[in-house]
Amino acid sequence: MTDWKTITVERRDRVGLITLNRPDALNALNLELMRELVAAASDLDADTGIGAIVITGAGKAFAAGADIKEMVDNDYVEMYAADWFSGWSRFTAVRTPIIAAVSGYALGGGCELAMMCDIIIAGDTAKFGQPEIKLGVIPGMGGSQRLTRAIGKARAMDLILTGRTMDAVEAERAGLVSRVVPADAVLDEAMSTAATIGSLSLPITMMAKEVVNAAYETMLESGIRFERRVFHATFATEDQKEGMSAFVEKRDPEFKNR
Ligand code: CAA
Repeated sequence: MTDWKTITVERRDRVGLITLNRPDALNALNLELMRELVAAASDLDADTGIGAIVITGAGKAFAAGADIKEMVDNDYVEMYAADWFSGWSRFTAVRTPIIAAVSGYALGGGCELAMMCDIIIAGDTAKFGQPEIKLGVIPGMGGSQRLTRAIGKARAMDLILTGRTMDAVEAERAGLVSRVVPADAVLDEAMSTAATIGSLSLPITMMAKEVVNAAYETMLESGIRFERRVFHATFATEDQKEGMSAFVEKRDPEFKNR
């Protein structure tokens, strides 16, 4: 048994359930959580006894984004040298089908993590968005690429440029979300959907995932790499410092456009 610090992992028959478990920080995705989630998903992926994976969040959020407190003081060179967020590429290499069970906030990196999954099942309390612009940065875990592919340019621009959130009904209408169910039923719905997938042929479900992703991901990698570099570059601005510091200090930001 691995001693996970930021997640929990359960096996229920052929379904692996990973719960993001930093509820006091609304499951903000710090580097430790990223490493643990990627390791746990890779372990489940290597286990032929597991036919589908469900990812959910403990408490009132799926995940409220990458951990702002961990990044606030970083500069451009640190972000670039660490290739911040590049570890998520291993998550998208998982071949077993993954369902995101989203209740509450899926913002920034939380929305981007849900979009890295294959199916999103949302509770009616779910809220999706890419609020990075309000912090003086841009999406950095694939949001500019995956959201645009999922819901189209006009809607993605609306969300990414204003930082507004969309509720579960709007997200379903826009095509981001597969199904909306009452919030207290979201995990059951995701687990039973995963059980259905898990009852089918694992190599064939992997192949189905691979071909759908081929339609979706052509040229995605170069877009993600470009996005990550520009995200790192936002750390060369004063407005990133101001936007993230204002969040940490619980005040409104005063952007200086530099
Ligand atoms: N990083 C670090 N800590 C976070 C966090 C985040 N993304 N989101 C929430 N938290 C922390 C809060 O700081 C707070 O901690 P303290 O109790 O120590 O003050 C705790 O979680 C609870 O949060 P709130 O008190 O703010 O809860 P709320 O219900 O009043 O508000 C919220 C909820 C609207 C989601 C608000 O927490 C919020 O706006 N969070 C930030 C959302 C955001 O900007 N996400 C994008 C992050 S950057 C990113 O993700 C880059 C990328 O592309 C990958």
